[in-house]
Amino acid sequence: MAEALWRHDAPAALSGWRAAALAVLMVALVACKPVSGPVRFHAEGQPATLSEWNLFVREDGVMAPSAGVVPYDLNTPLFSDYAHKLRTVWMPEGKAAVYDGEATFDFPVGTIISKTFYYPRVAGEAADSDAVLRSQGGEGALAGGRLQLDKVRLIETRLLVRREAGWVALPYVWNREQTEARLMRSGELVPLTLVEGDDGAGGRESALYQVPDQNQCAGCHGTEIRSRALEPIGPKARHLNRDFDYVDADGSPVRENQLRHWRAQGYLRDLPADGAMPRVADWRDGTQTVEARARAYLDVNCAHCHSPGGPGNTSGLWLGSAVDQPLRLGRCKLPIAAGHGTGDRRFGIVPGHPERSILSYRMISTDPGVMMPELGRSVVHREGVALIEAWIAAQTGECGDAG
Ligand code: HEC
Ligand code: HEC
Repeated sequence: MAEALWRHDAPAALSGWRAAALAVLMVALVACKPVSGPVRFHAEGQPATLSEWNLFVREDGVMAPSAGVVPYDLNTPLFSDYAHKLRTVWMPEGKAAVYDGEATFDFPVGTIISKTFYYPRVAGEAADSDAVLRSQGGEGALAGGRLQLDKVRLIETRLLVRREAGWVALPYVWNREQTEARLMRSGELVPLTLVEGDDGAGGRESALYQVPDQNQCAGCHGTEIRSRALEPIGPKARHLNRDFDYVDADGSPVRENQLRHWRAQGYLRDLPADGAMPRVADWRDGTQTVEARARAYLDVNCAHCHSPGGPGNTSGLWLGSAVDQPLRLGRCKLPIAAGHGTGDRRFGIVPGHPERSILSYRMISTDPGVMMPELGRSVVHREGVALIEAWIAAQTGECGDAG
């Protein structure tokens, strides 16, 4: 039997007016609460624990999305110190997001999007060890967005909740027992040791994983710099247009396109009838061109800031997948400021020369005044850097006098 995760037991006995008052209160709660599975949408306040949302259930050492909570993945995700991510979406009964071919879908009030950051554990390490696996595989994850709790180290679960007044961002940090995650508005630093190879024999690298504080969420999700209003970043057609391994009611795996699944679930309307939905590349997919993979990588990792309305707009460097002007993408582009952040390099991209390009220089850096992205990582994404370097190396041409 599945039990709702970590719900507090109801008081065993109540008498007199208190019981009556509680009954009235419960009727009121039931009346104004959307009734789709056990999930609880909180229209206001900042619940102190993740369990108050009832997004997940625990059964036999497995954490699984509650009924109606749909797991999803992106073609190319954001890099965050090699953390693995479980993303879910939930909407109230009868509500749906509206499809858009370009922008983030328009989600209804009541939507809850979650993203859980976790790492596979290293086999044979003590339960309280800081060692986690530096991997890009699916260790510890099962079909249907389920996690094997003895195989993963849960770090944090972030929520974006769509309320009447707009989106609210809530960071929850997991305890070591993995029984509860608590709201940590001021963020947290989690020391980790990233271990290459699950025999533990590979290289080890220290990472100081940073759970952002609540204000930093807007540093990336405040994609409209004027209003600073928060927006989800990933749920766009081009990122979601891929297959996912769901499980059906009997627990058997079913592979289906995510956009079609959302529609079937009642979570998405106005999907193009002709099936012509855009798609960015999976950055790891060696069968796709370096160009397509690099552009997908920059789109997800950089464009929420590097776009005309985003927090990195002053740089004049725009890295979204639809940008087609080479100069905007950094090619032979002079930086807005010379000095420290450029490493004495002259241009954003020098065709054929990653070692002379500011773009790759800032991705390789871990200096807080230089590194890009400026938030959200403490180690270098070696495979991501290698991809961007290969992309720059394949470009031809000169940058005028000083290239
Ligand atoms: C370094 C930039 C950055 C910061 C800081 C950041 N996010 Fe995100 N977040 C992203 C990007 C990019 C995505 C989409 C790509 C992905 O999920 O891999 C995302 C995805 C999410 C999602 C899934 C829905 C979506 O928008 O795609 C949630 C929920 C979320 N973030 C919550 C938060 C919260 C809460 C905070 C603050 C505690 C926060 N984020 C801080 C960049 C950031
Ligand atoms: C959280 C927001 C944010 C993210 C994410 C981000 N940047 Fe930036 N970036 C900025 C800001 C703000 C500036 C301007 C100030 C500066 O140069 O530090 C900038 C400047 C730059 C510059 C110098 C541009 C110029 O011509 O002066 C480069 C190159 C750059 N970023 C590359 C990247 C790359 C590549 C990524 C993704 C891997 C990325 N950035 C992600 C905010 C961001």
